Amino acid sequence: MEKIAQKFLENQNLNKEEFVKLIRCAHDPEVRELLAERALELRKKYYGDKVYTRGLIEFTNYCKNNCYYCGIRRGNRNAKRYRLTEEEILACCENGYELGFRTFVLQGGEDPYYSDERMEHIIRRIKEKYPECAVTLSIGERSMESYQRFRKAGADRYLLRHETADETHYRTLHPEEMSLQNRMECLKNLKILGYQVGAGFMVGSPNQTEECLAEDLLFLKELEPQMVGIGPFIPHHDTAFAKEPAGSVELTLYLLSVIRILLPKVLLPATTALGTMDPRGREKGLAVGANVVMPNLSPVKNRKQYELYDNKICTGEEAAECRGCLSRRVESVGLHLVSDRGDAVE
Ligand code: 5AD
Ligand code: FES
Repeated sequence: MEKIAQKFLENQNLNKEEFVKLIRCAHDPEVRELLAERALELRKKYYGDKVYTRGLIEFTNYCKNNCYYCGIRRGNRNAKRYRLTEEEILACCENGYELGFRTFVLQGGEDPYYSDERMEHIIRRIKEKYPECAVTLSIGERSMESYQRFRKAGADRYLLRHETADETHYRTLHPEEMSLQNRMECLKNLKILGYQVGAGFMVGSPNQTEECLAEDLLFLKELEPQMVGIGPFIPHHDTAFAKEPAGSVELTLYLLSVIRILLPKVLLPATTALGTMDPRGREKGLAVGANVVMPNLSPVKNRKQYELYDNKICTGEEAAECRGCLSRRVESVGLHLVSDRGDAVE
């Protein structure tokens, strides 16, 4: 048994070098099992056998950014663009509510069409109709003022993956007009405003090293977000990274356990990307410490268009099918899908 894993189980305050060592143990089945076991104990302690669910509404695939890994980057002329109307978004929520969802995640590219006013209007209408539901936004970098307006309109949570905490790596994934500093500033602002915040990163994105991942873990420990989204990088055919290899499922699963131990009360989704790389990827994620699933509530006619990466699963399914399917998948690993808002425990 690797000493470093033992040390990590005793005290999570590792330095960068030690985290690098810990990450290198991902190949050791014994260490993987040991960490998964602890991760499951911790999840059970705080969340029992409950798995929370969030209804994902991908409401626009227009984006003003040009991240090199992403299929809906502005430079991709082959992307067929769409926007949902406010009525369509509300119809997704209605459908979702009937299926038992009590959290709606409004996710989209960075689309200036959805001005602060338009977003406030949408948030207000959802919160008026479903006051007991949580509204989560995932619409990228905005000003402190915008975040404040959304919060006042009723938004509860915000997902903004930091993507990588390593400055040099960040530069290789994003064009010059974007900056890691601004991203981190956004995450801090969201916290100040009282959002429950989700950060996260892709596993195996091009140029990622074990040192980068160590930085990610240090950053997460410091930020202490309520949620952390991680999933394997998957190439998209219309991007500069089309020929790059996908991230590893095994390493993603290992990191899910590590993050559960690092931040025991964190909400940790078994992501769609994980389910895309492995038909039982999401179940495997739940079996090593994840406790959230995020099925798609977007209209079926638009699902294929929200193509961040190739071969994304669930694009032909109705929301009801996804709900039923996920419920069975969650039960298959001895857990239960529950219908409450699923806030992080204090
Ligand atoms: N592979 C995997 N995940 C991706 N994302 C974007 N493009 C890809 C890709 N090619 C992730 C990013 C983003 C989230 C919404 O989707 O981490 O934050
Ligand atoms: Fe969508 Fe299984 S979760 S079909």
